Amino acid sequence: QTVSVSATASHPIPTTLWGQMFEDISSGDGGLYAELLQNRAFQQVTPNTAAALNAWSAINGGQISVVADSVPVSNSLPNSLRFNVPTGSTGQVGFANSGFFGMKVVASSTYKGSFFVKFPTASSFRGNLIVGLRTTSGSTIVSQSVPIRGSTTSWQQINVSLTPRTTPPSTDNQFFVTIDGAAASGQTINFAMFSLFPPTFKNRANGMRDDVATALAEMQPKFFRFPGGNNLGQTVPTRWQWNATIGSFLDRPGRAGDWGYINTDGLGLLEYLLFCEDLGMEPIMAVWAGFALGGTSVAQTGLEPYIQQAIDQINFVIGDPATSAPAARRAALGRAQPFKLTYVEIGNEDFFASDTYTYRWPAFVDALRSAFPNLKFIATSNINSPVLSPNPAQWDHHVYQTPTWFAQNSFFYDDMPRNGVTFFEGEYAAISTNPNDIFGSPANGRLTFSTMQSASGEAAYMIGMERNSDIVFAASYAPLLGHVAGSQWTPNLIAFDTGNVYRSASYFVQKLFSTNMGNEYIPSTLPSRTGTVFWGVTRNTATGEIIIKVSNTVATQANLTFVLPFANVATSGSLQVLTGAATASNSPTTPSALAPATTTITTGKTFTFAAAGFSVNVITIKAS
Ligand code: AHR
Repeated sequence: QTVSVSATASHPIPTTLWGQMFEDISSGDGGLYAELLQNRAFQQVTPNTAAALNAWSAINGGQISVVADSVPVSNSLPNSLRFNVPTGSTGQVGFANSGFFGMKVVASSTYKGSFFVKFPTASSFRGNLIVGLRTTSGSTIVSQSVPIRGSTTSWQQINVSLTPRTTPPSTDNQFFVTIDGAAASGQTINFAMFSLFPPTFKNRANGMRDDVATALAEMQPKFFRFPGGNNLGQTVPTRWQWNATIGSFLDRPGRAGDWGYINTDGLGLLEYLLFCEDLGMEPIMAVWAGFALGGTSVAQTGLEPYIQQAIDQINFVIGDPATSAPAARRAALGRAQPFKLTYVEIGNEDFFASDTYTYRWPAFVDALRSAFPNLKFIATSNINSPVLSPNPAQWDHHVYQTPTWFAQNSFFYDDMPRNGVTFFEGEYAAISTNPNDIFGSPANGRLTFSTMQSASGEAAYMIGMERNSDIVFAASYAPLLGHVAGSQWTPNLIAFDTGNVYRSASYFVQKLFSTNMGNEYIPSTLPSRTGTVFWGVTRNTATGEIIIKVSNTVATQANLTFVLPFANVATSGSLQVLTGAATASNSPTTPSALAPATTTITTGKTFTFAAAGFSVNVITIKAS
């Protein structure tokens, strides 16, 4: 097959084209968010139940329970941990937190801990708490002694700084608090709002897990879609609310997330926005739009408070502190300058409530447009289903399908009308090889980790989106992150466990596209719509490079001849290639099975290129 490349560009490539979609789906608490303690503040649990003690356990006969405190540490955190030292205790008695499937502890790193403590009834006790890290089998890794007094009947905050000298053999570690059982025999002590952070990405307080954030940064993503996804809310009262995610931990009540566990909301709106800046990403921020995934739509006449909350959320991001109370709250939290914001998404997958999106969309978009005339608002449903008025200028389209579907739909956007409407591919992934059971189980074709076959299918689709980037302004694989020990969804772009990060085949495809984007699209001979090998050409005018991407979605090698019309074309170029067997994947047991390799290849005004079976290739050539 000969591919003739045009001399002139057809359109600029949007600067937002390749980015990331994030929601807390086994990926925020215990994932991207670096907090090491699980159930750190007993948020949203039922006191006096075993479930309320999730992740907490007693040491040496210590008695612990979660109680509704008569004088809680804050209005937002009504529960505390009640610790009784049984009479007759000996040795160190206390309790431990097992983290999120353990804790990674590294020698010479400093772990910053804090908690609140009080005696519910005054006593004459004086003694020391021992606070530290230990292996699950009970060997102390590092500890610090903290004096306390029984006369402390109001909440007192304790801070500790733990720097282990050795790295324990595994991540099977715990945070612990103990006290001398004989000295404290019969004492009752309440604890609240624990926290323990390792060093974080860019050393931000309340920041991100360094290895996870580093993997995200290496993709050079251009935008970050948050906070959902489905995690906008299962019920109206448990919806994600921006104002419950900002400020002191004491003011964050947490919420029942949509993926079966409590969200601490420690990773809140300000943390998302700062992370966007740290990675040079533009936020694509969702507002809750009057529909809860459990099935409730707010009546048309009842939408006003939710619209106002969306306006306040946006003002927190971009408002003027002099004229907007939410913006003044942002300034009070140390950020007077507004953040960059262009796109706001109204809801998520509202095809689940298309009959009510027809009134919710206009109610939200009209009010938000009038409050923020410079912002662009994205509708989220199947495209034009339902038909909405006013007609959305931006649609978010989602697709989870088979690798073959993605290859066969590389031309999905080619036939869309050019009428001013543009598209955000806000979620896409090849998640199953079984077209009849896309969301089924691994036994029935569902992928646990992306494969070379799924990644090359996605690359074929991405080549189509790049070709159509006159109307596709952004695209993000989903989900972004998943804990291998407790994931609600597979595959994820990046899998991680307590100690490691596993970059998937799809991750490397996303990274190849994002780091080799170019700024203008150069038409070329089109691939066959029904074929199995796909290509596209872009140019980086700043570096004078032509960038050719080729995805071969089957096992047979594909031979291509490229003809470049430029006066000067380098006789050699760089080739980055990701290739492997159809079912090859990176996983905890095969973490490095697939990775792009870079070589130099012979190029010129005309050159041949053999794309290996199941491969994604990026060829970069200097040309002018
Ligand atoms: O990415 C996982 C889920 O898929 C998202 O929460 C939802 O928007 C979609 O259905």
